[in-house]
Amino acid sequence: MRASACTQLNPSGRKRTASAALSSVVRLLSWNENASTASSQEVRDMSFISGSLIYMISHISDVAPESWVMRVAPFGTVREEATRKDALRVSRGRALVRITHASVGVTDALAVRGDYLMQPVPRFVPGYDFIGIIEHLGAADHSRLSVGQRVAGILPRMGAHATRISVAQSLLVPVPDSLDPVIAATAPLDAVTAQFALDALDAKSGSVLVQGAGGAVGAWAVQLAAARNLTVFGTASTRTRAVAESFGARVLDYRNPEWIDALRKMTNGGVAGVIDHTGRRDLQRVVMPEGRIVRIAFEGKQGHQRRATAAGFAAATLRRYAHPAERICSTPMLVMLHRFAYRAALGDILDRLDSGTLTPPQPRSYRFTDYRKAVADVTSTPPGEKSVLVMGH
Ligand SMILES: NC(=O)c1ccc[n+]([C@@H]2O[C@H](COP(=O)([O-])OP(=O)(O)OC[C@H]3O[C@@H](n4cnc5c(N)ncnc54)[C@H](OP(=O)(O)O)[C@@H]3O)[C@@H](O)[C@H]2O)c1
Repeated sequence: MRASACTQLNPSGRKRTASAALSSVVRLLSWNENASTASSQEVRDMSFISGSLIYMISHISDVAPESWVMRVAPFGTVREEATRKDALRVSRGRALVRITHASVGVTDALAVRGDYLMQPVPRFVPGYDFIGIIEHLGAADHSRLSVGQRVAGILPRMGAHATRISVAQSLLVPVPDSLDPVIAATAPLDAVTAQFALDALDAKSGSVLVQGAGGAVGAWAVQLAAARNLTVFGTASTRTRAVAESFGARVLDYRNPEWIDALRKMTNGGVAGVIDHTGRRDLQRVVMPEGRIVRIAFEGKQGHQRRATAAGFAAATLRRYAHPAERICSTPMLVMLHRFAYRAALGDILDRLDSGTLTPPQPRSYRFTDYRKAVADVTSTPPGEKSVLVMGH
């Protein structure tokens, strides 16, 4: 693993400091026990020794850091950095997890370029979800976890693009032993978002529309909706149409200006619900009055995405009691507020992946050191693939 410029030690400087400290230790050992006769030179030696030892210890810890993180500072720039040790303290109810895999998605790319509402200030570490191994448990809150166990998690705030994190045990969900960790890493944020969005839709029967049905969240939503015996319509361009259709969606091309009218005709007046990531207002026309629109994101122009999200969020909140009603589904917020439901959803997704009843995207692996490329490639990821960081060991 490379060290960033700000944490790398100059080896010759380290040698000089070490030999000076060593000679001072020898002088100290041969020091006259009668302290009252200590010369000012000897007192200076004492301070030098303690200072040097602190210097060496702190730098030794930098050379073998607890964790490497990818830090955004300033926006648009990512630096590999060693974290401070105290950032990894494992107190009661927390765990030290060595991250082995983490997904990289559209939200990370947004955040890196400064367009993500939930990360408005630089110097953060991107990444919401991870797969890892528990290395240490603070006094346990949950006996279901043990050291050495493979776990998955979604964080309520970004920070998963790191080699180790200290994380609340209540965020950790065991990964089935037989599930490939690279496959598992494709799922947490995207699949749980699809699951939560469907729950918020609350459609018991009939048909639903999934916007971006061939995209990362959309493909999970199509499968999960079909598994609930809902008829699934999806929007996609010709680029991602095949992926959406492979999971059973009846696809309309969102680039065709007539697609909303076409869907109204196909469904005799509208679907029971829509999962949407664009924020477009006219979707109200494709939903039956008693149905719902669940917004998982709001589209905006590059550089104006934060404002678009805030405005979309406010508008959707105001339409909470409209007909059709609108709901906002933010997985990080739900993870923060509803731990039990979050763990149940993620555990269920991992079990269904393990049993083969859900089909994951094809993982597209990147080494942790190729992080910038992984982020840059997000917008051109081939349909049906998901980028996964594979950490070194
Ligand atoms: N709420 C949450 O907790 C949460 C969690 C994860 C992600 N998200 C957000 O959800 C959004 C989607 O994420 P993702 O990872 O699924 O992205 P993605 O993989 O890029 O998928 C988005 C899909 O939307 C389609 N699309 C583009 N423009 C469209 C339009 N005008 N109308 C309908 N469909 C359109 C694209 O289809 P084509 O490629 O065919 O053009 C693309 O496949 C992002 O904004 C992301 O930040 C929210």
